[in-house]
Amino acid sequence: MKTVVVTGATSGIGFAVCRELLREGFFVIGIGRSDEKCANSKKELSESFPDCNVEFFTADLMRQSEIKVLADKVGAFITKNCNGELHALINNAGCVRSWYTTTEDGYEQQFALNHLSSFLLTYYLLPFLNKAGGRVIMTSSRSHKMMKIRWKDIMFKKHYNPLMVYKQSKLCNMLFAYALNDRYSSCGISAYGVDPGLVNTDIGQKQTGGIVKFVWSMRKKHGVLPEIPAKTYAWLCLQEENPPAIYYYLCREQKHSKQVTRENADRLFRLSEQLCGIKYGRLVK
Ligand SMILES: NC(=O)c1ccc[n+]([C@@H]2O[C@H](COP(=O)([O-])OP(=O)(O)OC[C@H]3O[C@@H](n4cnc5c(N)ncnc54)[C@H](OP(=O)(O)O)[C@@H]3O)[C@@H](O)[C@H]2O)c1
Repeated sequence: MKTVVVTGATSGIGFAVCRELLREGFFVIGIGRSDEKCANSKKELSESFPDCNVEFFTADLMRQSEIKVLADKVGAFITKNCNGELHALINNAGCVRSWYTTTEDGYEQQFALNHLSSFLLTYYLLPFLNKAGGRVIMTSSRSHKMMKIRWKDIMFKKHYNPLMVYKQSKLCNMLFAYALNDRYSSCGISAYGVDPGLVNTDIGQKQTGGIVKFVWSMRKKHGVLPEIPAKTYAWLCLQEENPPAIYYYLCREQKHSKQVTRENADRLFRLSEQLCGIKYGRLVK
């Protein structure tokens, strides 16, 4: 049985992805930020799929110290129950913020959760992905196409614009996928960005306010159910051969932004290593 870790698994797209993966017979490890929501999600999924293998772990992915503790727990669990193999890591947790707010590590919150947490969790789980020739899937967005990285002020300390910060974080997802493929495709690891489309979730109404909250409450009504994009993640996990493209929407290859270049990917990779205090190394099988 193949194992998949899904972050942001307690609501919206992530929860629907868990359902879809369980339906397809995967062993699912969900990550959420609240013990209560994790317990409820596990219960609901176990009731829907009585013979399924599902486990949940709690961590605030905005805290780098918690990502380390989480990865240790998940790693020990995979070693014990899944032969040390991780078939896919779905970096899906994300947020929107209305104002400049920082994490306890001092980083802007959208950048920290939407990009840096994926970067750090992937780093810790890389040995398990390596063993399985696994896939790393980021929930990006088509909004990444309308953005350049603001290298001089990547956390938007000056002139904070919530939408620009969000779009940039989704471009970071694509650049991270590009950089992972560059470094580890020779080991059989592949990485992807998924555009879920516009999806009716509460993302814009959590810890937001003002215009952001209002606009999202209107906009989300035009979104599809999370079950629609969930199929693309399951499809990416199900393919025998590593899917060849880097960016998918509704199980089909899409064109990504011209900003997704090796130069930008390497630059972001190096910066992210600094911000996380880690150094990605070579892998041996
Ligand atoms: N909705 C859309 O139209 C759309 C479009 C493009 C891309 N996306 C992307 O899709 C992904 C999922 O978003 P969604 O729309 O499904 O929204 P959502 O329902 O709010 O899901 C976000 C998930 O991330 C979790 N989360 C939030 N802060 C966290 C933290 N500090 N630590 C750990 N987990 C945390 C949430 O936990 P709780 O359940 O406790 O809130 C939730 O499970 C995001 O990356 C988003 O950028 C969404």
